[in-house]
Amino acid sequence: MKVFVKNIDELTYVCDALILPLTEDKGISHYRDIDKALNGLLKEIIVSGEFSGKQNETSLVHTHGKIKSDKVLLVGLGKGREVTREKLRQAGGKAVSYLRNLNVRNVSLSCRVFSSLKLMPSDFIEGSLLSHYRFDRYRKEENHKEIKSITALSGEDLRKQINLIKTAASATLLARDLVSTPANDMTPSALVKCARALKKVSVKVIEKKQAEELGMGAYLSIARGSMEPPKFIVITYRKSNTPPIALIGKSITFDSGGISIKPAQGMEKMKYDMAGGAAVLGVMKAVSEMNLPLHIIAILPATENLPGCNASKPGDVVKTIDGKTIEIISTDAEGRLALADAIGYSKRFKPSMIIDIATLTGACSIALGNEAIAMMGNNDSLMNKMKRASEETYEKVWQMPLFDEYKDYIKSDIADLKNSAGPNGSLVTSGYFLKEFAGDIPWVHLDIAGTAWIDKDRPYVPKGATGIGVRLLLQFLKS
Ligand code: BES
Ligand code: MN
Ligand code: ZN
Repeated sequence: MKVFVKNIDELTYVCDALILPLTEDKGISHYRDIDKALNGLLKEIIVSGEFSGKQNETSLVHTHGKIKSDKVLLVGLGKGREVTREKLRQAGGKAVSYLRNLNVRNVSLSCRVFSSLKLMPSDFIEGSLLSHYRFDRYRKEENHKEIKSITALSGEDLRKQINLIKTAASATLLARDLVSTPANDMTPSALVKCARALKKVSVKVIEKKQAEELGMGAYLSIARGSMEPPKFIVITYRKSNTPPIALIGKSITFDSGGISIKPAQGMEKMKYDMAGGAAVLGVMKAVSEMNLPLHIIAILPATENLPGCNASKPGDVVKTIDGKTIEIISTDAEGRLALADAIGYSKRFKPSMIIDIATLTGACSIALGNEAIAMMGNNDSLMNKMKRASEETYEKVWQMPLFDEYKDYIKSDIADLKNSAGPNGSLVTSGYFLKEFAGDIPWVHLDIAGTAWIDKDRPYVPKGATGIGVRLLLQFLKS
């Protein structure tokens, strides 16, 4: 979907549908001229009680040639005082999904209401772009409904904002595509291909043999049960001479659990266990397109987790790149093994901070449902910055504690650490485990197990892969 901005009046702009956002209290007061041209039809809809402007409510009108747009879609923003950026995103998502189902091609958006709300039309358009997503790669193309363009009718110079939301939205959609792609196609090698397609970055892939030489025994233990070669992907973006920010994304392209195998029910969803890596790739795409003046080392320790005949076994002890030994209690607690080596490796670059994003624990969704990312870390100021980015983007984060007492939970009888403390406190003990590897480098861990995949449509997130983390991390990096 293309985005245009044109300084043309709503009455004369030719398109298939004109979107008129409005609040409950102001009703059609911004649109008197349009209402007049439509012989009072808009007013009638409101007076009759058919439409009142409640949040995300829609009402469609055919214009029969009275204005240049074929149709008009009213979309509610709720009470004027309560409109937020997120509500604009949602309304934008609702309006565009509605019109898409009507097989509409070119739509326009009246921007009159936004300035009186002191908000930007770009949020509305961001919601539109994010909602306009479908994963069709594996279907014959039939009944393909797609909106070609949305044109903001405005005299303001919106170019900068629009470019930013376009970049962020397309990076989010990339992440959704990667996560939706089934694991037979989205292999570690496929992630390499995707990394190599990025511009303005350099990509280094540490193959199995070199990873062995480096001593990444924890990460490599996951790959033993699979025929798919593991790929430890390192992406460098350097547009500043400061110490790098390390961005690490869990990239298990399929998590069967290994020998500690998962139940069959719902296992197909474990293709989304690389959603952290997908988010990091999305972020790198956007960062390079925006030319942000940053130095970033992105790391995707990619592998499958399968129970092949050479797979690691519960009770095995492995050694990480920084020499710590780990007793594998559960081969299904594989994410932290990969992240331990990724964090360890990242420290060689003396990063100013380490951010990891991972579908790490089932306990994350038990605690927070599908609504928030569980955040843990060792640095309050960094976590507060992440909270602020979360408020801007509405990719919600909620902080969980890393009490010193959790150290005991992951003590092993024979190794330095064990990879699972069982179900009790599993969300926080996984975080505590990672903390042991971050050491004193400022570090934030984001568990996206509950938010990376949803089973029900949302106003601007169709069910399936959400692409969570891309907009959050971008906002964090920009600020
Ligand atoms: N990838 C899973 C976590 C997960 C579960 C993500 C459901 C998304 C949806 C992770 O590797 C895992 O299996 N974690 C175990 C850890 C346990 C064995 C300590 C879990 O949470 O059950
Ligand atoms: Mn697992
Ligand atoms: Zn996993």
